Parts: sequence; structure tokens; C-alpha cells
Amino acid sequence: MKRSVDRLINSGVSWLKKKKMLKTKIVGTGSYLPEKILSNHDLEKIVDTTDEWITTRCGIKERRIVENGVGSSTLATRAAQRALQMAGLTPQDLDMIIVGTVTPDMLFPSTACLVQHHLGAKKAFAFDLSAGCSGFIYGLSVADNFIRNRSCKYILLVGVECLSKITDYQDRTTCVLFGDGAGAVVLTGSTGDRGILSVHLYSDGTYGDLLCQPGGGSAHPATHETIDKRLHYLKMDGNKVFKLAVKALEDAVMEALAYNNLKSEQISLLIAHQANLRIIQVIAKRLNLPDEKIYLNIQKYGNTSSASIPIALDEANRQGRIKEKDILLFNAFGAGFTWGAAVVRW
Ligand code: UT7
Repeated sequence: MKRSVDRLINSGVSWLKKKKMLKTKIVGTGSYLPEKILSNHDLEKIVDTTDEWITTRCGIKERRIVENGVGSSTLATRAAQRALQMAGLTPQDLDMIIVGTVTPDMLFPSTACLVQHHLGAKKAFAFDLSAGCSGFIYGLSVADNFIRNRSCKYILLVGVECLSKITDYQDRTTCVLFGDGAGAVVLTGSTGDRGILSVHLYSDGTYGDLLCQPGGGSAHPATHETIDKRLHYLKMDGNKVFKLAVKALEDAVMEALAYNNLKSEQISLLIAHQANLRIIQVIAKRLNLPDEKIYLNIQKYGNTSSASIPIALDEANRQGRIKEKDILLFNAFGAGFTWGAAVVRW
């Protein structure tokens, strides 16, 4: 009798232990950038633009361009391998792979399944997530939920883009902005107070046509006509996007801070989607953040959409700019529109 009571008590204790609240921690970061550099001076030879215009309007000096014949899955796999190595894990440990991208290798199968295959992550299920430049933050939220409800132990989240493949190098209003690259994180559960504190997500589909790739999908499948009209290239009304992005991001970061009862001076590092230096500066000013609390690499890589936050995070991490318990603020805005903000205690 005593033994069975003990067993009952013990099983109750282990159930309680199991149910202890989990937080989702980032335990590995990695990134990969193609070697080829396309500078502002290179672009001056292709379209009617100047280094001065690009630098002052966007903060970009150069961007990386993937070589012919290479797609997003290759970049994503390299970033993922680096993140796994830092986490001290093997691909076989992964339960789930999420790839945020608007430039998949092909419409299907998903780039995430190709990454699963390249890595040899036999146990993981895998899918792509299409949320424009907010893909990484959206993916963070999905991963956080699967970890906290204990469906997955280890998740790989990658943001990857080969935007050069859908950029119209005859359109000076867009071709100076975008670049290629991949960033990855490995996430797992932890019972301490470190990890993802919140993710706030938003969408507004009424603005879909301000930033889109109109051709090649089911509405306008590829034909000679869609190609002639250059519909397979990214289109953006940059000025309208700019104004809406600033307002939406301001609201999102303020909501994220209020939710966590945090004051802006408690933020250790702002790692924002790198779309435009001026957008990042407006948000940083609103938060009263000094320069050393803003991570910037837009000058080197341009706008890499869903890859920009994980690339920046990996660089900051490897440069030793993030210490244990630091409060990191992520924010992103992109096609959809989609936007969001996440707070992480490192
Ligand atoms: O990542 C997803 C979300 N994307 C964003 O958040 C991007 C948001 N938008 C932006 O970053 C900015 O709007 C841009 C950098 C795209 C453009 O800057 P802007 O200050 O909004 O310029 P604008 O579009 O109002 O254009 C100003 C002028 C125009 O000439 P006029 O009409 O004043 O004579 C453009 O034709 O600049 C001209 N222009 C250029 N001139 C030289 C546009 N592109 C170029 C160029 N070089 N590359």
C-alpha cells in the first residue's frame, strides 16, 4: 500500500515537473552570404542611379548576389549547418524545420523539405512559411508554440532569400534595395527565465499590391505575355510602403514592450529587419536607443527580406555583442502586409 502511494506521489511529482512552464530558447545561430558583391558603383553602370542616392535614401553600400544555378535551399542548408554546429546538435536531432522565404527553389516541393533532405534530418517534418520580410518573426511564433506545448524538442528556423532572382535590374526603384542570404536559428525548450518572452504578429491584406510578385502564381501563371510584361519580378511602391511600415512598426514595438512591462532603456539590442536605415532610425529614436544598441548590417547586405534578422542575430552573437540575459527586440515589416515584434531574453 505504502509503495503504491509513493508511486502515485512520485508520478504526480514527475507530471508536475513535466508541466513546468517552458520558454523557447535560441541555442544556435548561423548564417550564410554568397561571396559575390554587387556594389552601388556596379549598379550605377546598370541603371540611372548614384551611390549617393542609395546611401542617403536607404543606407545600403553593397549587397550579396548568389551565383547562377544556386537556389535558396543551398544557402539555407549552409546557414542551418552553422546553427546546428553552434547548438552542438546533429540534423537527426531536429523535430521540425521551418523555412521563411518568398524565393523558394520552386513553388513546390517546399524549400524546407529540400533543406531537410540536404541536411539528412530524417526525423523532422518540414514546411515553408510565406510572410514576406516578417517570415522570421512569424516562424519564431510557430516554433515557440510547438516547443512550449512540448510537441517538438528541437526546431530549426531558417530565413532565406535569393531576391536577386526576382529583382528587375531595369527598375532603379527596386533593384538597388535587395540582396541574397540566409540566417538560421535552432530552438529548444528551457525551464529558466531565458528565451522568447513574446511575439506579436499582424497582417493587413488590403495593401497586398504595394509589394508583390504578380506573375508566376495561379492568378497569372507564366506565359510569354507575363514575361514580356515583367510580371515575374518583384514590384514595390516604396514610398507608400515606407510610410505604412514606420507607423506599423512603431505600434508593434510599443505593444511588445508594454506586454512585457519593459521600458525602452531595458532593451539591450534592437535587431530590426534591414529594409531601410531611415526606418530603423525612426524606430530607434522613438525608443530613445543609442547607436550602440542598434545592430546594423544593411550597408553590407541590403534588404534580404526574411533572412535579414537571423543574419544580423548571428553576426551580433558571433561578435560577442549579446550577453546572457540581454533583452533583444526584433521587428519586421513586409509583403502582405505582415509585420511583428518579438522580445527575447538571451
Ligand atoms: O522589406 C519590405 C518592406 N520594404 C520597405 O520597408 C521599403 C520601404 N521603402 C523605402 O525604403 C523607400 O521608400 C525607398 C528607398 C524604396 C525609396 O525612397 P523614397 O525616399 O521613398 O523615394 P521615392 O520613392 O519617393 O523617390 C524619390 C525620387 C523619385 O524621383 P522624383 O519623382 O522625385 O523625380 C524617384 O524616381 O527618387 C527617384 N528614385 C531614384 N533616384 C536615383 C527612385 N529610385 C532611385 C534610384 N536612384 N535608385
